[in-house]
Amino acid sequence: MSNILVAPSILSADFANLERDINKVEKANADWIHVDVMDGHFVPNISIGVPVVKSIKNVTKLPLDVHLMIEKPQKYIEAFALAGANILTIHYETVPNPKEVLNLIKSNGMKAGISIKPKTLAKVLDPLYDYLDLILVMTVEPGFGGQEFIADCAMKLKYYKSLNLANIYLEVDGGINERTAKIAVANGANVLVAGNYIYQAPDVKRAIESLKD
Ligand code: DX5
Ligand code: ZN
Repeated sequence: MSNILVAPSILSADFANLERDINKVEKANADWIHVDVMDGHFVPNISIGVPVVKSIKNVTKLPLDVHLMIEKPQKYIEAFALAGANILTIHYETVPNPKEVLNLIKSNGMKAGISIKPKTLAKVLDPLYDYLDLILVMTVEPGFGGQEFIADCAMKLKYYKSLNLANIYLEVDGGINERTAKIAVANGANVLVAGNYIYQAPDVKRAIESLKD
């Protein structure tokens, strides 16, 4: 039994068959559903928003791990809570007052996460550990699925791991497959997001198992 959690990213699913594609990973022992929300400003792509999260909530029992790649995330926290998000992750680069925003996420009943882009240093989160349930280390530039894993970014996981942050998930996102998952886990990750690797696999269950191993 491994204690690695796997969160398939539905950015790589077929949006016309989302229920089918969510059921598929749920049956294959996924732990969370990772939902990428993009606004075309913070990242150069637009994906989905609150109404889709609300609909997804009705078709899965798995926790919804919502990754906000949007400017001014503080404006939408209550809406995502009402839609059924369980974990809400904002980007460090988008908020001048991360403590306030993280507290707002928690007071809305969700777990609070923060993510850093590849060029953002790990230690910027030092003042925030008391406010956090999850740290999301990006190993690609956020915006698109199917990109190449940036191994240097995985070293940031090692920094957080060395701090022994009790009760904070260390999640990694971008270019995760059977090979790169090993690097991420060796450096301290305990939640693996994967889009293309899972959704393009001929056998989704095997793909998820291979990440947990
Ligand atoms: C990228 C998103 C990721 C993406 C991962 O901005 O945050 O969650 O869907 O996709 P893969 O696993 O294909 O790199
Ligand atoms: Zn993501």
